[in-house]
Order: sequence, then C-alpha cells, then structure tokens
Amino acid sequence: MNKTIAVIRGDGIGPEIVNEAIGVLDAVAKKFGHGFSYQEAPMGGCAIDSFGVPLPDSSLETCLNADSVLLGAVGGPKWDAQPSANRPERGLLKLRSAMGLYTNVRPARMFSDLAAACPLRSDIAARGIDFVVVRELIGGLYFGEHTTFEADGEQKAADVCSYSEHEVRRVARVAFDMARKRRGRVTSVDKANVLDTSRLWRRTVEEVAKDYPDVELLHMYVDNAAMQIVRDPSQFDVIVTENLFGDILSDEASQITGSIGMIPSSSMGEGTRGLYEPIHGSAPDIAGQDKANPIGTILAAAMMLRYSFDMAAEADAVESAVDQALKAGLRCGDILNGDGKLLGCKAMGAEIRARI
Ligand code: IPM
Ligand code: MG
Repeated sequence: MNKTIAVIRGDGIGPEIVNEAIGVLDAVAKKFGHGFSYQEAPMGGCAIDSFGVPLPDSSLETCLNADSVLLGAVGGPKWDAQPSANRPERGLLKLRSAMGLYTNVRPARMFSDLAAACPLRSDIAARGIDFVVVRELIGGLYFGEHTTFEADGEQKAADVCSYSEHEVRRVARVAFDMARKRRGRVTSVDKANVLDTSRLWRRTVEEVAKDYPDVELLHMYVDNAAMQIVRDPSQFDVIVTENLFGDILSDEASQITGSIGMIPSSSMGEGTRGLYEPIHGSAPDIAGQDKANPIGTILAAAMMLRYSFDMAAEADAVESAVDQALKAGLRCGDILNGDGKLLGCKAMGAEIRARI
C-alpha cells in the first residue's frame, strides 16, 4: 500500500523524535512491502520564524491532502512573547479544528518492564494501570472567544466555554464504542455541580448510553477524578471528558504510568485521516542533545498504522519491537532505573528499528 504522511517536526526535541519515528516507519514499509512518502509541513515556533505565522496555509494544505499526519511537538520559551493569537500552540489548535479532529485518544498503560518507574505506591501499581482518556478536542474553553479588556480601571480577561449536544454526542459515541472493545466501562468526567456545560454534557452522555446497554456508565466530578486516578487507577477503563479537563487529566494519567515520554496519542474526526503525536511537549531544555525519548512518537506512528491505515500486523510489529527493547533493559534518561542501559534518542530509534 502507498501512503502519504504529512510530517510536522515542530520545535525543541520535535525534529529528533520524528526522525526516529520515520526510521521505524521505513523499516515497516520495507518489511511489509509498503511505500510511505513524507511531506514536510512546518508548524509551531519554527514556522513563526520562517513564515511569521504558526500554521502557514501551505502546511495546512499538506495536512489536509495527506493520508495522515505525524507530529513531534511545538512551542518553547523563544516564542513566549508572541501575542496570544500567534503563539506556536495556536497552530496546533487551528490544525485540529481545520481537520475536524474532535476525538483525542490517550492511552494510559503501564509497561510491566517499567513498573519501577511508576510513582504510585507499589500495592496500588500492582493492581495495574490500563485505561484510556478520550478527550473532546475542538470545543469548550479552547475554542470559545478569548478577550482581554480594560474595565473599571483595571485589566480583565474572559474565555468563553460552550458545548452543543452534537459535539458531546459524537465524542461520547467514540468512548462507548471503545469501551465495548475493552472492559465495558465508561467514566464520564464533568463538573455538573457547578457548570451548565457540564450538565449538558452529562445529559447528552446519558442519552447516548441508551444505545449501549452492555456498557456500564459512571459519572465523576473532575476534582474527584483527579484524586481517584492516583488513589486507584485500576477502576478506570475509558474516561470521556471535555477539552480542558481532558488536557489536565491526560497529563496526570500518563505520569502515573512511569513516564510521559512513552505515551502516544491519536486525534481523529470522521474518516480515517488522523493526527498522531506523543503527548509530551517540546522539552527545550534537552533539545538537540540526543537525550529525548522517541518511544512516545514511535508508538504514535504505530497508532497511525493501526487506525488510519488499517495495518494491524504492522502496528503490532512496532509495539512488540518497543516491548522487546524495554525487555532488553534499554532505556532513555526519563525511564532509566536500576541497571538499565542508557541510550540516546538515535540509538533507541536504531534498537527499535532493528527489532521490526
Ligand atoms: C496537549 C497540549 C496542547 C493542549 C497545547 C500545546 C495547546 O498541552 O496536546 O495536551 O493544551 O491541547
Ligand atoms: Mg496537554
């Protein structure tokens, strides 16, 4: 099969980790007889430097015309002084919205070989961590009107949060479908004791649940959810929640698995084209030093193979190559423990490639 992949290297460690993911995709193409071609789509701070905007139209076109999109990470202190409408992150938000990617899926699974890196008490970790955060990605506070203004002799600011029923319904369906293929439990997270958007969220999720009598539905307030994720993560199967809550809870969920550097994510809308990225940021403090962990991005490429290209065997091959590298004691700095062998970004990529 021939596929065109738009590649957004981005900023900080983005280019290094994307290189290793492409190396792994090339190894897959060779082994399984596919042809992957890559088209560069500059986005983020680097695009501000060269084009003056975080997401040039040409990059958006490249992404919209590709079969799928692979992204490293965007942003960094260099662009902190940009006006808020021209920050690197705005490029990412515009891309998510223009591609209609309303569902973001972030698995939180503890690799058994990394149990020692889990920051939770060992009796809690022993119960296992294997759940998925399904985050609504193109609504809510992120996409409401943002204003900063002068009133009563001081500066004020406002960000509008709104949701429509159809926006809740479509992401809820994804969560219920996913729970059916897993352990059959959806936990919908909201703040319905305070927010109208949350009350609409809860009502709509309950309506969708009627089509899934075989799936158990629980509701949880977001503050309680943040606490339960560290108290007993084994209670969760699929968490579904709105944009900002999902942003926060998915960072928490990834960290309890041992390292945020290991976790991939997929963003999808209707159809098979998606955006695949690690959930960590651009880590400017270690950029260009060959210290980054490429595994999150490599596993994101595996998700692309599975969900956008329907290449399950190929995705399995990548995931098992990562497992084998971990079993062999190979570690990047963020997951180094005990007598593991420390590798840089390039060497880790090469070791995983060699196991495809
Ligand atoms: C994420 C990131 C982004 C978000 C930023 C970079 C805009 O934190 O993908 O979780 O908040 O969605
Ligand atoms: Mg985030």
